Amino acid sequence: MTRPLVARIDTAALAHNLGVARRAAGGARLIAVVKANGYGHGLVRVAQALRAADAFAVLTLDEAAALRSAGYSHPILLLEGYFHPDELPEIARRRLIPVVHREDQAELLARARLEHRVDVFLKVDSGMHRLGLPPQRLATAAARLGDSAAVGSVTLMTHFACADDPAVGVAAQMAVFDAAARGLGLPASLANSAALLRYPQTHGDWVRPGIMLYGASPFAEQSGEALGLLPAMTLESRLIAVRQIRRGEAVGYGATFVAPRDMKIGIAACGYADGYPRHAGTGTPVLVEGRRSRTLGRVSMDMLAVDLEAVPHAHVGSPVTLWGEGLPVEEVAAAAGTIAYELLTAVAPRVRIEEC
Ligand SMILES: Cc1ncc(COP(=O)(O)O)c(C=O)c1O
Repeated sequence: MTRPLVARIDTAALAHNLGVARRAAGGARLIAVVKANGYGHGLVRVAQALRAADAFAVLTLDEAAALRSAGYSHPILLLEGYFHPDELPEIARRRLIPVVHREDQAELLARARLEHRVDVFLKVDSGMHRLGLPPQRLATAAARLGDSAAVGSVTLMTHFACADDPAVGVAAQMAVFDAAARGLGLPASLANSAALLRYPQTHGDWVRPGIMLYGASPFAEQSGEALGLLPAMTLESRLIAVRQIRRGEAVGYGATFVAPRDMKIGIAACGYADGYPRHAGTGTPVLVEGRRSRTLGRVSMDMLAVDLEAVPHAHVGSPVTLWGEGLPVEEVAAAAGTIAYELLTAVAPRVRIEEC
């Protein structure tokens, strides 16, 4: 028998979530963000399920090449642009769209001699202070790129730091972006999932949803289900041992959980080497045979312990859902002090993937 841990990918859920994003986007075109191995769901599998998107966004040339090799002719955005000028000929040949986020990148591209003109997304830093040109330099860079024989279309772009946080929102960054873009007459791309769902004024010409396509909510206070999304990944395992422990006995490394009474516990085949967060403490929710329960003690490399009080009939082989259908990944992430993005993208290569 193979190890029972499996990540089930629901490709119909991906397609459904794309529909939700489309409806929210109104007339804007949609770039499906499929970086980080399709947020852990498998790059090519996700691209197939989301092929109705208008474009894809990835990080690296390798990911873009994998999509082209799999037959996708969509526009493909490289979210961090090119890392080295050597990449430009391949970017042109594969008709990829680099983000240009520094002035020296813009200058180098403007001077390049390439097989085809390269369309670009020119990124302005509207307040996140990560990537992007200073707003006051945007017009000059846009003009330089627009005048270059190496460049096709120029689309303006920015990224929001707090679109998921209603206390901050997007207003300040929108004001900076609008002022920088005014009069340039160029198309724009601003919205991640949170902005797409909450701030129609950010939609512009191209929206860039990621997390919502995988069925997770970008908001702490609103569930994916409430947004009409379906979980695309269910991480499921089984009990490989069941044992009775006595009051006062400890469970797992560091003996961090000590039984307050006699207890029945189960050991599930899933650990931090599978991508389950080691920092998830006692009480992180799991489903055993579909019933809610909790983890006990420290997560080991290959297994974790669960409380069987709510599921007394559980036995070796009983299914254990770590997240997904019936147990939102956002909820597990919150209990572990992290976000759904981290859990989904951390699923390890050794975890078997099944499509359903
Ligand atoms: C530049 C950019 N746009 C869009 C996204 C998608 O964001 P989300 O997954 O929150 O929708 C990301 C994700 O990190 C990003 O870096």
